[in-house]
Order: sequence, then structure tokens, then C-alpha cells
Amino acid sequence: MSSLLVDRIGELVTNVADSGTGGPLGIRRNVALLVEAGRVVWIGPARDAPAADHRIDAEGAAVLPGFVDSHAHLVFAGDRAVEFAARMAGRPYTGGGIRTTVGATRAAGDDELRATVRRLRAEALRQGTTTIEIKSGYGLTVADEVRSLRIAGEVTGDTTFLGAHVVPTEYADRPDDYVGLVCGPMLRAAAPYARWIDVFCERGAFDADHARAILTCGQAAGLGVRLHANQLGPGPGVRLGVELGAASVDHCTHLTDADVDALASTAGPDRTGTTTVATLLPGAEFSTRSPYPDARRLLDAGITVALATDCNPGSSYTSSMPFCVALAVREMGMTPAEAVWAATAGGARALRRTDVGVLRPGARADLMILDAPSHLHLAYRPGVPLVRQVLHDGVPR
Ligand code: NIG
Ligand code: FE
Repeated sequence: MSSLLVDRIGELVTNVADSGTGGPLGIRRNVALLVEAGRVVWIGPARDAPAADHRIDAEGAAVLPGFVDSHAHLVFAGDRAVEFAARMAGRPYTGGGIRTTVGATRAAGDDELRATVRRLRAEALRQGTTTIEIKSGYGLTVADEVRSLRIAGEVTGDTTFLGAHVVPTEYADRPDDYVGLVCGPMLRAAAPYARWIDVFCERGAFDADHARAILTCGQAAGLGVRLHANQLGPGPGVRLGVELGAASVDHCTHLTDADVDALASTAGPDRTGTTTVATLLPGAEFSTRSPYPDARRLLDAGITVALATDCNPGSSYTSSMPFCVALAVREMGMTPAEAVWAATAGGARALRRTDVGVLRPGARADLMILDAPSHLHLAYRPGVPLVRQVLHDGVPR
């Protein structure tokens, strides 16, 4: 079995909170890390590093767990740059453009969709993303949702069935029938290709009753629950997510005190696996010119926060987790350390994964070497391509 030593790491972010005095990021200094069979097998002082078949010299740079992007919509065709330009000229975002992308996606061939997914997955990997969740939701027929999930499943195990993204045009005057389709034939066909189920619970998309019905059917089919909630205005999504034991409620831009209290009631280190994470998607506020969510309020209430890109052609066409980290620090009241944790370990919690988002023996050897001495530089040097090298499953990419 061949081994790989990442040597001369100046700052290692482990996210293992009990590793000495490294704070919540579990920072260790002047260490080396040994990889075998795609896993971390040893971390220790560089001077004690064992011999290895291959060696990467980190030259004193910072090494972090790969980013865990727990919210992305990569299966689509076309783009909506014109819609973006209209927003930057003052038009509001309503989510109505989703139907434009549904039309383009239905018209596209499998190879075109596959090429887009692979291009965006590669783009994300270059920026340090080693784990990514990918949703369907631009097909909205049984066949188009299933093929979206099949194509997503070619690049990730974290696939999410989002048949309830919006009510498609052909069901506009009979939304109950569409909910019946999603809960019945569509879910039956999609469930074998999905780990998660998601609903866009928002005015103009699905209300609480429809969302509850769809998510409950998804749970019965063995899928984990996540939600698009409280993005465009206050609403029932966050509390519904808590009620159903969702792994994550995403966006969380417009929260009442009751929403915050509900999320806080799920928090606590002794309840890992039952916590509902608040996943914040600052690329969406950036690209829709909307007020950012208040991460500070959530963190101060003890709520687990994740950061993700929401990469999609409408509300957030970025695959860059470093960009989201920088936005979260500058605009959402997070410290650089909190934002880095949220983009790595937080994303892992949002996907209920314990094998990623941390660097310790037994974890996946998913990591990035920065062109910088510290994780602080991700927010301190926004817009700069600081990811020098990525290891995914222990393999340099
Ligand atoms: O998370 N809000 C719903 N879905 C996406 C937007 C999709 C689109 O505009 O195409 C989101 O922001
Ligand atoms: Fe989204």
C-alpha cells in the first residue's frame, strides 16, 4: 500500500477541538500528516514523521480540511446572466427564473447536463471543495428528476431530491396534483438515487402543509430531510425543519426569535446526529443584492452554522467556498475561525458526515494546502486563488 506524507505543515486546521490549545479549529503547528488508502493515518511533529513512498512539501503553509459544500444545484442547462444584470439594475429576486432554467434543462441532452456538472465540480475542487451535495430540481418531471439525480450521483454520494423546487408551469393551476406527483411516482422513482429530500418552502413555492407532506413521504422512503427556508421573507420553513428533525435548514435569512429558539433547542454536543444546522448561503444575498443573514445571532444562541455556495444559475452562480468565507466574515458577523469551521466541519454536520470536515486519524484524506501561512488569509485576501493543492481521497488533484 503506498503512503504519502504531507510534510512541513506550518498550521494544520484539524477541527478536532480537543487537540491541545488549538481553539475550536484544533490548530496544530509544525506538523506532518501521513495518508494511506485515502485516509489520514498519522499526524505528529514533523521531526517524528515516518518514512513514506511519496512526499509533498507544504513549505510552512496552512493545511485545512477540504471544504464541505452542503448546498449546490449543479444539474441545469443555460444561464441567467441577463436576469442577474436586471437585478443589479434594481429588479428584485423572486425565484420566478427557476422556471426558465427548468425549460432549458428539460431541453438539454444528458451529455450537456453531465458536462456542466463535471465542469462545476472541477471548478469547486480547484477551490478546495472536496465534498459537495448536489440537488435535482430543474427537471420537475419524473424522468427529468431521475436523470438529474443519476448524473449528480456520478460525482457525489450526497444527492438531494428537490422535485418540490417550484410548481412547474403545466401544474400552475393545480398545485395539489403536483404535490401528489412528487409524493407518489416521482419520489418512488427518485428515492433510489437520492440520500436527501429538500423542499423550497417559501411564498410562491411550497407552503408549510405541502412541504410537510412531501418531506414526510421522503422520510418514509428513507431519505434525510433538508429545507430551503426563510430565504425571501419570514415563514414556517425553519420551524418545520426542526419539527421534522431536518439535518439542515438552508438560507435562514429572515428569522424570528421563535425560529432562533427552535434551532437552539436542537443544539448541543451530546446530540450530534439530531442537531438541525443553520446553513447560510451568502452567495445568494450577494447575487440577489439582499441583506445578509445574521450569523452572529445564531452563533450566540449556540446554533451550529454551516456555510455553502448554493451554486445555481439564478440566485448564486459561484462555486467558490473561499468567496463565501470572505463574505461571511465581512458581512455576517463571523470571525475568520468561525467561517472556516462552518465551511468545513459545519458542512459535514449539515450532511451528518463524520468522515469529512476534520483531519484526524481515520478521517478521509480530503485537504487543501494554501498559498498562505494561515487560515486567516482566506478572508483577509478575498478574491485571491489561495488554494495551492488539493488532496481528495488522498490523491493529489
Ligand atoms: O437556493 N431558492 C430556491 N432555489 C435556489 C435558487 C434557484 C434559482 O433561482 O434558480 C436557491 O437560491
Ligand atoms: Fe438552493
